[in-house]
Amino acid sequence: MKNLNPIGIFDSGLGGLTVAKQIQKRLPKESIIYYGDTARVPYGSKSKDTIIKFTREAVSFLKSHNAKCIVVACNTASALALPIVKNEFDIPMIGVINPGAKAAAKKTSSGKVGVIATTATINSDAYTNAIRDINNKITVYSQPCPLFVPLVEEGWGDKPASELIIKEYLSPLKTAKVDTLVLGCTHYPLLAKQIEKFMTGNVSLVDSATTCSNDLNALLEEKKLLSDNTNANSTFFVTDMAARFSELGAKFLGKPLNAIKVVGNE
Ligand code: DGL
Repeated sequence: MKNLNPIGIFDSGLGGLTVAKQIQKRLPKESIIYYGDTARVPYGSKSKDTIIKFTREAVSFLKSHNAKCIVVACNTASALALPIVKNEFDIPMIGVINPGAKAAAKKTSSGKVGVIATTATINSDAYTNAIRDINNKITVYSQPCPLFVPLVEEGWGDKPASELIIKEYLSPLKTAKVDTLVLGCTHYPLLAKQIEKFMTGNVSLVDSATTCSNDLNALLEEKKLLSDNTNANSTFFVTDMAARFSELGAKFLGKPLNAIKVVGNE
């Protein structure tokens, strides 16, 4: 028996499209329904209670649109809300923290791992705990990088200002000689080139989108939820259609977004 219902993907905004991109690549026969809370982004500077409330609303929305499982494609929501919200709904849910932690623990040979993320994700210690649960000999160096999200959203990755900000944030991790660096925010893959350049190629970057899509495949297999639809489609819902949405979204997804709807106007 195959299940043709869509995979529900949720992010605070557009960043989760980097995860949607990997899922489309890994699971081309799966339809996707994406919910980006563009009216309330960023989550990274908000309180735990607020992030939990917004995550509950997103999961309810995706469930009511027949999602067969939920991918919390936002590190901040995965870190702060997923452990609580996943017990409140009878639908399989996965986030991006555990897949990223697993990949980092596997990759490091020096046992020194850096994690960069939003302030809320770093303060939650979710990555540190997840990595050290796998291997408690690993030392985790965490660094909040709150200015990276606006830099990406402005398309400023290649500007000299980005170079300075990357240097400011990442110098302590370079000094610590981390050999693996977790991009613990869905926006950061768009700065990967610049981050790699600053770290001078001596570091492996971990983007949890790839490992998350592998874990999602295993979850769908285990729950017997895989689809065999050769006409799979993707629908994108946002809570506010800001100017430049399509342009920015296409950058994250790596191709144009069609079928974008504003929640409430479906
Ligand atoms: N998508 C969020 C994350 O991965 C970053 C943007 C935000 O602060 O909401 O943490």
